[in-house]
Amino acid sequence: MQGNINLTRFIYETQKAFPTATGDFSAILNQIALAAKIVSMEVNRAGILDDVLGYQGETNPSGDDQKKLDVIADNVFFNALEHIEKFCIMGSEENENPVKLPKRYKKGRYAILFDPLDGSSNIDFNVSIGTIFSVFRRTSPEGGDGNLQDLLQPGYKQVAAGYVLYGSSTMMTFTTGQGVNMFTLDPQIGEFILTHPNIRIPDATRYYSINEGNSANWSDALRSYVDTLKTSDNIHGKVLSGRYIGSMVADVHRTLLGGGFFSYPADSANPSGKLRLMYEANPMAMVIEQAGGRAIYGEGDIMGIIPRELHQKIPVFLGSKKDIDALQRAVFGK
Ligand code: AHG
Ligand code: MN
Ligand code: MN
Ligand code: MN
Repeated sequence: MQGNINLTRFIYETQKAFPTATGDFSAILNQIALAAKIVSMEVNRAGILDDVLGYQGETNPSGDDQKKLDVIADNVFFNALEHIEKFCIMGSEENENPVKLPKRYKKGRYAILFDPLDGSSNIDFNVSIGTIFSVFRRTSPEGGDGNLQDLLQPGYKQVAAGYVLYGSSTMMTFTTGQGVNMFTLDPQIGEFILTHPNIRIPDATRYYSINEGNSANWSDALRSYVDTLKTSDNIHGKVLSGRYIGSMVADVHRTLLGGGFFSYPADSANPSGKLRLMYEANPMAMVIEQAGGRAIYGEGDIMGIIPRELHQKIPVFLGSKKDIDALQRAVFGK
């Protein structure tokens, strides 16, 4: 463990390297950390607190049946972020349209997107779930309300991205373009402590991560590639183990630390896959690439895509460069 470097001290020490820094990131990341602690408390007491588990009775823009915790987390993150006047517009999985900030708040220089609660299908089963966030500099004129175009930027323009994992411990992982750092919440003192500085995704792995329940709908090339992972005739020269949790944050977290790849591919039933570009694929792509990995949709990189709409879906293949290079060659001929 890295002594007791808490998130605030880490941000301060990192920020010193940027004399022109305005402290905006400090405020943003500290508020995300606050929201994470609140959601973590809700998650950890879900069965005890009333009205946290179960369905909300609405569907969201992607057609998902909303869970109560989807909506709780959405409100917690919006409330934590709107007051600090660092954003001009916000977008989330649970809101059809971008959310403008109330008139009383000065409009900041950033635009933020988030998946407030990722892995909702796992909430009622006490399986790890998470939150994903993506931050851009606004492109619209400073001072006024932001707009949809401030959000619909290609992933390579993200200035920060990361996730919170509500698992056996609550962890916050993020990048601001200078590598990836991971913090673990110490519930005794309510602080996120730096436990995994400057993460590099390993090339060696024991795992691959994809929902084999959909394999009948995959392309033949993808099915053949995944079959080689069940033999020793693959780039690792050994049989790999399948690991699929069904919460992107948990599957990506294991891939970041344990190597290999995670994929939610396109298939005959879902020609664009299932994961959303703006608040799942892009932020996770930035984290993985900042840790030395790769993140593609097929023939090209996820972060190179020019977005068309807020909730557009995209196939995802991300992980160790060695794995993604081999998969892209075998499945997409690139
Ligand atoms: P969300 O709960 O935010 O809608 O995301 C769910 C996603 C993602 O977390 C996960 O990788 C994927 O759904 C799992 O889908 P399947 O259950 O179809 O495998
Ligand atoms: Mn959902
Ligand atoms: Mn999600
Ligand atoms: Mn979600």
